[in-house]
Amino acid sequence: MADQELKQKIAEHAGNQPFITEGGHFFVFCADVNRHKQMAEDLDMDISETIEGIDAALVGAIDATLAAQNLVIAAESMGLGVCYIGGVRDGIIKISELLDIPEYVFPIFGLVVGYPNERDDSKPRIPFEDIYHTNRYNSNTKEIIKQYDETTKLYYAKRSGKKTESYMV
Ligand SMILES: Cc1cc2nc3c(=O)[nH]c(=O)nc-3n(C[C@H](O)[C@H](O)[C@H](O)COP(=O)(O)O)c2cc1C
Repeated sequence: MADQELKQKIAEHAGNQPFITEGGHFFVFCADVNRHKQMAEDLDMDISETIEGIDAALVGAIDATLAAQNLVIAAESMGLGVCYIGGVRDGIIKISELLDIPEYVFPIFGLVVGYPNERDDSKPRIPFEDIYHTNRYNSNTKEIIKQYDETTKLYYAKRSGKKTESYMV
C-alpha cells in the first residue's frame, strides 16, 4: 500500500498498531470468491448456495494465506522482517469500505514487511514431536501447553518493554 494517509486510516481501524504505518510496506490479504461469482454469471450458473458456504470462505482464506506465507519466506530470505496483522479483522467493515472491496471479498489479515531496526531471538516453538502426530491424534496436550506457556513467558520477559503479550500466537 503506497498511500500513507490511507495506511494511517487502516491502522486506526486495525487496533491502532503504530508499526502498520511505520514498519514498511503494508499488504492486505483478502479471501476472494468474487471472481467465482463473475465467472458463474458468465456461464449462467447458479452458485448462490456454495459461494456463501464455509468451504468457499475456507478456500479463499487458504489461497490468500499460501500467497502470504510465500511472500514471507521470500522476504525473510532477503533480510526483511514481517508481522502479520490479524487486527484488520477488528475493523473489517470500515477497512473494506476504505479499500473499495466488493462483495464476496474479505480481508483476512494484513502483513507489514520492512527492514527491522533490531532483531529478537526466535520465539520458542512447541517442540516438533508435540505437534507431529503419527497414526493417531494425541489429545494429551495439557502438559505440553503448560510447558510452552512457561517457556514463552520467559521469552517475553527477556524482550522487556515490548507490547507483545496480547499476540502470543
Ligand atoms: C494470523 C496472524 C495474525 C496476527 N496479528 C497480529 C497483530 O494484529 N498484531 C501483532 O502485533 N502481531 C500479530 N501477529 C503476529 C504475532 O504476534 C507473531 O506471529 C508472533 O509474535 C510470533 O512471531 P514469530 O513469527 O516470530 O513466531 C499475528 C500473527 C498471525 C499468524
